[in-house]
Amino acid sequence: MATAKYEQHIDREKVRKTVEQVFGYLGGAAVSAMIYLGDRLGLYKALDGAGPVTSAELARKTGLHERWVREWLYGQAAARLVDYIGDGRFVLSPEAALVLANEASPAFAAGGFCALPQQMAVLERLPESFKTGLGLPYDAFGPEGARGVERMAAPWTRAHLVPRVLPQLEGVVAKLEAGAKVADVGCGSGAALIEVAKAYPRSVCHGYDISQYALARAEQNKAVAGVHNVTFHDARTESLPADGSFDLIMTFDCLHDMAHPKTTIEAIRRALKPDGTWLIADINCAPTFEENLATNPFTHMWYGFSVLCCMSSALSEPGGAGLGTLGFTEPVARQMAADAGFTRFRRLEVNNPVNAYYEVRP
Ligand SMILES: C[S@@+](CC[C@H](N)C(=O)[O-])C[C@H]1O[C@@H](n2cnc3c(N)ncnc32)[C@H](O)[C@@H]1O
Repeated sequence: MATAKYEQHIDREKVRKTVEQVFGYLGGAAVSAMIYLGDRLGLYKALDGAGPVTSAELARKTGLHERWVREWLYGQAAARLVDYIGDGRFVLSPEAALVLANEASPAFAAGGFCALPQQMAVLERLPESFKTGLGLPYDAFGPEGARGVERMAAPWTRAHLVPRVLPQLEGVVAKLEAGAKVADVGCGSGAALIEVAKAYPRSVCHGYDISQYALARAEQNKAVAGVHNVTFHDARTESLPADGSFDLIMTFDCLHDMAHPKTTIEAIRRALKPDGTWLIADINCAPTFEENLATNPFTHMWYGFSVLCCMSSALSEPGGAGLGTLGFTEPVARQMAADAGFTRFRRLEVNNPVNAYYEVRP
């Protein structure tokens, strides 16, 4: 009886649209898996600059089985990532190549997909987190997790941090040129810090992170870059010195992931010189859920990654703040900075698709 009554209020069109939506999201998951394979198997790189190719030609070039490559190409064309020009031929446009094939392009986005299997594998553990409240740290994703974070963020950072972001900070470039003391807290695999170390060889750079996999990658990246003015520290055992000695401290995309961001911000305040600078990059989002719903087309994706990763990390220790991906908004950042004793806060003009940048000073 109750069901029949409920049935009368069912909007059939809305049911149809919801089914369409749900399968759209499943489609996104399936296409994401295919982007992972395209990146891992070198298919995008093989397509880049190759002109129109058949599945047989692409299979020959990559040493893969034609039937599998053909199915992948059909899916890529249907997803509008690769262009189908007829006659069994497929082309990766130069624009798509910048996003999917060319790792040196600041728009490169396929790299982060390398950690997709590990990011999805935590689904087996998250039901427990919903019950206990305790999340998982970044190391739950294994070494690939650290590689995925690096490959997602580093292309933009390598292209823009030194030439476009640092010059916006008051007086910082002159200090870096002369020889400054720099820290990157939550440095991940060190891509940003190594760029600073390379650009300013007179400066001394310190990276801090709690992820053993990120720190191991950071050491490898340091060796490849051949820089000697960078030291990486395990923040679980070695914290920022509270000695007012740093000219510049950077936190990129990590405060919303931290279990105790207040403690870290207070430590940054104590570690900075009186005329030092704290540079923050964090997710560019609106102050409220309602505004994000209305204005940000990626809100659903951010909340998904928050549960899978960011909020989970921020709740991975007892009493964790649990800010989550969209939790370190500009008003939150301003308030937390002021609470820790910072007096100046300025949003920078940086055209980054994901992050907002702030200059914060004592
Ligand atoms: C999304 S990653 C960003 C890494 C890097 N800054 C970047 O932009 O590529 C967040 C990082 O914060 C680190 N993290 C989380 N809590 C931390 C803490 N309390 N102290 C230092 N690092 C922390 C994680 O291990 C992870 O490497």
